[in-house]
Amino acid sequence: MTQPITIAVVGSGYVGLVASVCFAEIGHRVICVDNDEAKVRMLREGGLPIHEEHLPEMLSRHRTGRLEFTTDLHAATRAAQAIFIAVGTPQSSTGSADLSYVDAVASEIARSINSYKVIVEKSTVPVYTNEWIRRVIERNGVSRDLFDVASNPEFLREGTAVVDFLHPDRIVLGAATDRASDLLKALYHPLTSGEYYRAANAIPGSRSESDPPPILLTSTKAAEIIKHASNAFLATKISFINAVANICEAAGADVEEVARGIGMDSRIGGKFLRAGIGYGGSCFPKDVAAFRNVAELVGVDFGLLREVEKINEEQKQRFFQKVRSALWTFRGKKIGVLGLAFKGGTDDIRESPALDIVQKLLDEGCIVSAYDPAAESRAKEVVPPGPQMRYVDNPYAAAQDADALLVLNDWQEFAELDLEKLHYTLRYPIVIDGRNLFDPSVMLQHGFTYLSVGRPGIALQPDPVTSLPSKS
Ligand code: UDX
Repeated sequence: MTQPITIAVVGSGYVGLVASVCFAEIGHRVICVDNDEAKVRMLREGGLPIHEEHLPEMLSRHRTGRLEFTTDLHAATRAAQAIFIAVGTPQSSTGSADLSYVDAVASEIARSINSYKVIVEKSTVPVYTNEWIRRVIERNGVSRDLFDVASNPEFLREGTAVVDFLHPDRIVLGAATDRASDLLKALYHPLTSGEYYRAANAIPGSRSESDPPPILLTSTKAAEIIKHASNAFLATKISFINAVANICEAAGADVEEVARGIGMDSRIGGKFLRAGIGYGGSCFPKDVAAFRNVAELVGVDFGLLREVEKINEEQKQRFFQKVRSALWTFRGKKIGVLGLAFKGGTDDIRESPALDIVQKLLDEGCIVSAYDPAAESRAKEVVPPGPQMRYVDNPYAAAQDADALLVLNDWQEFAELDLEKLHYTLRYPIVIDGRNLFDPSVMLQHGFTYLSVGRPGIALQPDPVTSLPSKS
């Protein structure tokens, strides 16, 4: 049996909150610290600031037991053997990561250290952050033998964050000393030994007792780079397939077939080859820029990443152009929109390509009816409802009497729409799909004019404009 370890997690955003709940789930005592009193109160009462599968039931399972929430970082540091820093690292005006929260938390931890602690970076941070944290703690007068700084990057995706944490592909531990890596290994032992997966109420996923996740022990610098490079590589894969999609569209081929053909090569792999309207979210845009910035700082010209960002930006513009090519003019047109979050399965609207497109439609004078299963209240804070912008509570209400329906993210619910009903709900049966959720031949059978990404457009009466590849 794994011995419970007391840990503190500083920050209750996506990464910190999911890590806190999951560490409690695998048997540890967790003190989750945040300086936002209202948020701490909400969490103590069982409320959640984010939409994430499995989190509600896991929070209620642990919040009166192994998991507590507090604003008191000092007491949490004293009680914990390991302190995870999971605070925000927003993008600064130069594209680099703003590490002022990490700096402030490290100083505060330093002032509370009374016995040996491992301080662990969990937030995505540039290489050398580890060394800076060590320096900050030393400057505050803490002796070198009272602490170690380690790096344990998190690879969770929003929407599947809990499963990603409990069933990871790998656990990366960057540590410079055995005592730091031993503590971190002990912390993950319930997963790496397979013990957790035996539990009757374990959250199911791809890992099992016979196939537990491996640990990769690295230097702290390598761990920091692994995190940035992973996200930059995945973003590159998406921009690559989006560029290929544009070639397919021009050549009259289907990018879905092409992606399948590429992905079947085990050296490439089929994941993250879905063409669409570009990547968004709180990680990829920020991390690609931050990694490019790290490269510049160390004297490496990583021009590839500039191209990745450029393709991503142009992808949204191309899609918008496609909408224009289907509608001719915008002013006064009624547009139904499915999806506001940056992808399906989440309520997160940060850097959402969907919201960008909605904003452009509004700027052009369209009247938008939008539906998203989870992101409505967050979207309203950025794009308030008004005469031009209406939020509705189901996909058919979004389509009601619309001149066209746009699909902007990939909730499963959208792919399962009743196409017959959709057809008679729309004013004109035009669907412009930024996520390739539908089969073009099925859409044709149902009488739609259907435009998607990287696939030839289809229309009952071939149209000289919509059947041509769009130009950005
Ligand atoms: C990402 C990483 O996957 C995760 O490992 C890291 O810890 C945080 O950043 P997340 O931002 O939750 O996770 O979303 P992800 O599922 O990776 O999607 C990112 C964006 O890329 C979304 O806008 C998504 O719609 C888009 N995407 C993804 C594509 O356009 N095509 C794909 O094939 C995959």
